[in-house]
Amino acid sequence: MTDKIAIIGFGNIASAIVTPLLDNKLIQPENVFCVVNTEKSLENIKKNYKHNINVYKSGSKESKIIWDCQYKLLSIKPQQLNDISEAHHIKNKDNLIVSILAGVSINRLTQKFPNHKCVRVVTNIPITIGKGLTGISWGEEITEDQKQFTKKLFENTSKIYEFTEDYLDIFLALTSSGPATICLIKENKLTTSELKNLVTSPGGTTISALRVLEKKSVRSALIESIVSASNRSKEFR
Ligand SMILES: NC(=O)c1ccc[n+]([C@@H]2O[C@H](COP(=O)([O-])OP(=O)(O)OC[C@H]3O[C@@H](n4cnc5c(N)ncnc54)[C@H](OP(=O)(O)O)[C@@H]3O)[C@@H](O)[C@H]2O)c1
Repeated sequence: MTDKIAIIGFGNIASAIVTPLLDNKLIQPENVFCVVNTEKSLENIKKNYKHNINVYKSGSKESKIIWDCQYKLLSIKPQQLNDISEAHHIKNKDNLIVSILAGVSINRLTQKFPNHKCVRVVTNIPITIGKGLTGISWGEEITEDQKQFTKKLFENTSKIYEFTEDYLDIFLALTSSGPATICLIKENKLTTSELKNLVTSPGGTTISALRVLEKKSVRSALIESIVSASNRSKEFR
């Protein structure tokens, strides 16, 4: 992948997608152009991120360079979409936005970014251990090159499924929210609550799923079922 890529929002999931590509030298750090919202994140990435990527603060003059990249990964929170505006003078003719925003339709993306073709992707945090599941819905008139580029972003770290958009929400509920509700943490040094924090955002889809589990006392039911089985086994002694 020799192309330049802009990353609009470089948080948990963008880092999980891009870092393995940089680690495996599938993208060169000088070809990655990120924009974040706060000075804190800007400094943190500059100081602590292991690859020397280009990073800018949103609204700064330099950050406008991202609109000159043909390929863009849109990885802000859905609630932050209103803060992003497509630049008026776009140089590339064949622009692509790959959006991983939960619940934001291709139609809304196309209205928001009229000078881009848009792809909607649902991926999940197990991409950090190379075991992700990624669903892709193509917008209109996506070229074969654009399809190949999109798949390359995810194919090293996940299995890829291509769906019509109707199926993506179901796929999201099962795969993106899934790690917060049922998970195997053998291969990662995270605690269950750290993993939950990685995959939830206030007002998001996953926290809404967790709320139902809490309301239905699933956690308590699981604990009590184990205690009950353990107590019962002691009765057989
Ligand atoms: N986490 C998951 O497991 C998961 C899975 C699948 C899909 N998703 C989707 O991925 C997206 C990102 O989730 P996340 O967990 O990675 O969120 P996150 O860690 O909060 O990252 C959001 C990023 O967007 C930046 N940002 C906010 N407003 C911006 C603006 N106006 N211009 C440029 N950058 C801006 C933030 O910068 P600051 O840090 O400076 O605020 C941050 O770098 C969400 O839409 C979510 O639906 C997440």
